[in-house]
Amino acid sequence: MDNKIIIFDTTLRDGEQSPGASMNTEEKLRLALQLEKLGVDVIEAGFAAASPGDYDAIEKIAQSVNKINVCSLARAVESDIKAAGMAVNPAKNKRIHTFIATSPIHMEFKLKKTPSEVIKIAQNAVKYAKTFTDDVEFSCEDAGRSEISFLKEIVDAAIEAGATIINLPDTVGYRLPNEIYNFIKIMSDYVANKAIISVHNHNDLGLATANSLFGVMAGARQVECTINGIGERAGNAALEEIVMAIKTRKDEFKGLYTDIVCKEIYKTSRLVSSITGMEPQANKSIVGKNAFLHESGIHQDGVLKHPETYEIIKASDIGLENDNIVLGKHSGRHAVKSKLEALGFELNDDELNAAFERFKILADQKKDIFDDDLRALITDEMIKIPEVFEVITLSSNSCNKGHSSASITIRNKDKIISDSALGNGSVDSIFKVVDRISNINGVLKDYQVKAVSSGKDAMAKATVKVQFEDKKAVLGSGLDVDTMLASAKAYVAALNSYFNLKK
Ligand code: KIV
Ligand code: ZN
Repeated sequence: MDNKIIIFDTTLRDGEQSPGASMNTEEKLRLALQLEKLGVDVIEAGFAAASPGDYDAIEKIAQSVNKINVCSLARAVESDIKAAGMAVNPAKNKRIHTFIATSPIHMEFKLKKTPSEVIKIAQNAVKYAKTFTDDVEFSCEDAGRSEISFLKEIVDAAIEAGATIINLPDTVGYRLPNEIYNFIKIMSDYVANKAIISVHNHNDLGLATANSLFGVMAGARQVECTINGIGERAGNAALEEIVMAIKTRKDEFKGLYTDIVCKEIYKTSRLVSSITGMEPQANKSIVGKNAFLHESGIHQDGVLKHPETYEIIKASDIGLENDNIVLGKHSGRHAVKSKLEALGFELNDDELNAAFERFKILADQKKDIFDDDLRALITDEMIKIPEVFEVITLSSNSCNKGHSSASITIRNKDKIISDSALGNGSVDSIFKVVDRISNINGVLKDYQVKAVSSGKDAMAKATVKVQFEDKKAVLGSGLDVDTMLASAKAYVAALNSYFNLKK
């Protein structure tokens, strides 16, 4: 059996199923290109039949990436498989991932089909998928609660029809690591070298990573996972945890390896948070804000004497560099370029010019520019979408008695519009003026602000989720040293996103 573990990233498909995490086509493409740099083997770019937007994003990704395998999910129905096959067609390496539920509860209540009908459907689906590509993955949805004897039958049928990968998901995150080990061992021994066994675990009991690792130990050679562990309900297994566990504990994983470029992990994690507006919790393994911080004096003392007293992974292993060089207003283009390179950003001349412009503006407002400030600036630039509206100036007054007020000047294509409004607090008054200027009433579904780095003059990053005109809510984020301006930019970014979706 091969020692390489295939990393199948489903951030763009299962990850996007996280409540509130929807991404537009440009964002998906950005992320796909970053996932390619990260070195994932397969990218599940979406579910082509789900919507024209999903189809479009998969097709654009298939046209844009080079070596990575691009996959689309499809239910075991012809129309889904056809859409998936057409959407991934431009890719050099393409896969169709078709699935049907195999647990008694799903077959009886959801599908209302007998087990033999389900086998027939699976077999036809795989055969039809093979007319688009040789690389066909078949998933037994809810495999974790399916009967082994039935799984063996349906897996035989799928392999006979041409499936090359057999995925056995614990769809509802019910299983414990020892159960997954035994289950995957039985199935992997049964399938032997006729197909690759894949694991796909959900995190409902907080066991998705552990279950995936036990699956690998039992013979699975593909792991399906997402960046930051985002996904349906409590999420999927986190890519960064699986990859770093296999690397850090190579003694236990006995020669197994992934082709992930670990130094790209942190950057990819930041990009996913910026696009989805979902920050990993501070104590999240590998990519959380506190993952490499030592608070207790005893730990700090130990780390200073010998890092390995309390560190099993170095921050620099995942691309979280810290050279203690802080930039400021006297730093030149060369210093900014070298710092960005050290942080893992390779920018072309135009991108570097844009980054330097933004750096200079920030350096006029803030004395010390930390790595986190630079990372936030660049990531913000990366996810920028075409601007229909742009905030030019903002003046906001908060008041502890009576109303707060805001006056804004906004550019709308070639028009400059100014207006003011009163509100219950600064944020309310700012969002109200933007509504007046754009003539669209947004309903604010979520609003978060956080400091990007440290110090009283730290930049604020505001993220909003807004619903305009009964359509699906959109996200927007804004960065500024002024929290109210960051909020205004975030709200206007959501408005721009809404207009871009309508196009
Ligand atoms: O969790 C699951 O079962 C899935 C399948 C569609 C693979 O996401
Ligand atoms: Zn899933």
